[in-house]
Amino acid sequence: MTETKNLASIGVVGLAVMGSNLARNFAHNGNTVAVYNRSPEKTRALIADHGDEGSFIPSETIEDFVASLERPRKAIIMVQAGKATDAVISQLVEAMDEGDIIIDGGNSLYTDTIRREKEVAAKGRHFVGAGISGGEEGALNGPSIMPGGPKESWETLGPILESIAANVDGTPCVTHIGPDGAGHFVKMVHNGIEYADMQVIGEAYQLLRYGLNLEPAAIADIFREWNQGDLDSYLIEITAEVLAQKDPATGAPLVDVILDAAGQKGTGRWTAINGLELGTPVTAIAEAVFARGLSSATAQRAAAQEGGLPAGIIDDGGVDPDEFVEDVRRALYASKLIAYSQGFDEIKAGSDQYGWDVDPRDLATIWRGGCIIRAKFLNRIREAYDTNPELPALILDPYFKGELEDLIQPWRRVVAAATHMGLPVPVFASSLSYYDSLRAERLPAALIQGQRDFFGAHTFKRTDREGTFHIEWSTDRSLTQTDA
Ligand code: ATR
Repeated sequence: MTETKNLASIGVVGLAVMGSNLARNFAHNGNTVAVYNRSPEKTRALIADHGDEGSFIPSETIEDFVASLERPRKAIIMVQAGKATDAVISQLVEAMDEGDIIIDGGNSLYTDTIRREKEVAAKGRHFVGAGISGGEEGALNGPSIMPGGPKESWETLGPILESIAANVDGTPCVTHIGPDGAGHFVKMVHNGIEYADMQVIGEAYQLLRYGLNLEPAAIADIFREWNQGDLDSYLIEITAEVLAQKDPATGAPLVDVILDAAGQKGTGRWTAINGLELGTPVTAIAEAVFARGLSSATAQRAAAQEGGLPAGIIDDGGVDPDEFVEDVRRALYASKLIAYSQGFDEIKAGSDQYGWDVDPRDLATIWRGGCIIRAKFLNRIREAYDTNPELPALILDPYFKGELEDLIQPWRRVVAAATHMGLPVPVFASSLSYYDSLRAERLPAALIQGQRDFFGAHTFKRTDREGTFHIEWSTDRSLTQTDA
């Protein structure tokens, strides 16, 4: 039934796949939803194809769309990130009134969200940058939603977002994350973690496929089994599906006919760049982004293969296949734990930098359903932060420390075996180095400080007394205190 008389409780601008699925989700859950798209064909198509699924109010001008919303008006923008989002915000600000709420549900960069929030607030409207995860399917059937913006907007917006979000054990996968850019920031790091999670699964596959020479169908069975335990997650589940799939064109395993050049839309890269800016080592995420970049460096890879670079494989006389499979599972689990630990570190650093006061427990809660990284494991993360909200690192939680007791040796064995076999495991290996760096009593940073003092008089601190020091390297190599 298509309503024309009543006002809509929520509106959606931009009716490409994500926008129309979100609009249908609102309608399915009892909300009257106003819909508008720049090109009216998309609006008409939505009403023609799905108008009977609930209560829609279609408009063909932004003014009619705004007029069809009840106050305070609430409109979610689902258009291309960047210029298109800015254009639609301007139109809405113009057509709306004091106290109305503009929500950006796209994958906007959080610094854009901070800027937009200021601009929109200056005009007396509220602006909420909301990260929405779960892809097309999530938008339609229940995404995980990460709204930022003013707390008072959440009071109005909360119930309506709760009505469409995924739900785990009676808890909706949405909560107010923090002011201005907090929601989009957290969504960015979520995507970065997703990159790492996918890459560690890829590394496990690589080892089973080219280390043990297992067929994709056999590896699909292994992933299905892993999905029954600690690794139980959406990504492991779909990995088994992809590996079991045959190419409809040739009958070969699909994974064998897909070009091995991974694409990206940029949120993983933003997470890595932001990690560098904040000084937070998100090595697992950065390596995952680099791994995608390397995979797509097709010409360079071809040249390297033709160039016959020496492999230098070390033959250890083979591995026991069953033991190796279990070791790989544990190495994957350990590396994944590092990726999440680093991602939560980045969120804490960002939250501190911008004064957002993001609660890590909220994230572990709302990521349990709807989003791509949904996993049983997130319950454990929530428990970890429930026990100690000030946890200095996720891996220091007693439960995860206990898990690492069981994971650490298999993890070392797998990284060593991969190295000997000549198989790339960038996230497994760098995560292990990160772990060992955290554990190390002394790091070579002391030597680096010495080098910096040598060539640039950059000074150093001492372990045995307060102050800042320098060695007169070019003369008598005496010690001077530079802050005395
Ligand atoms: P998807 O990837 O799901 O296809 P997208 O490319 O992120 O979606 O966004 C496409 C949407 O942004 C469309 O609704 C598009 O409107 P049109 O159907 O009229 O092309 C909308 N969009 C892009 N630029 C826009 C602009 N400057 N003003 C308004 N809407 C715009």
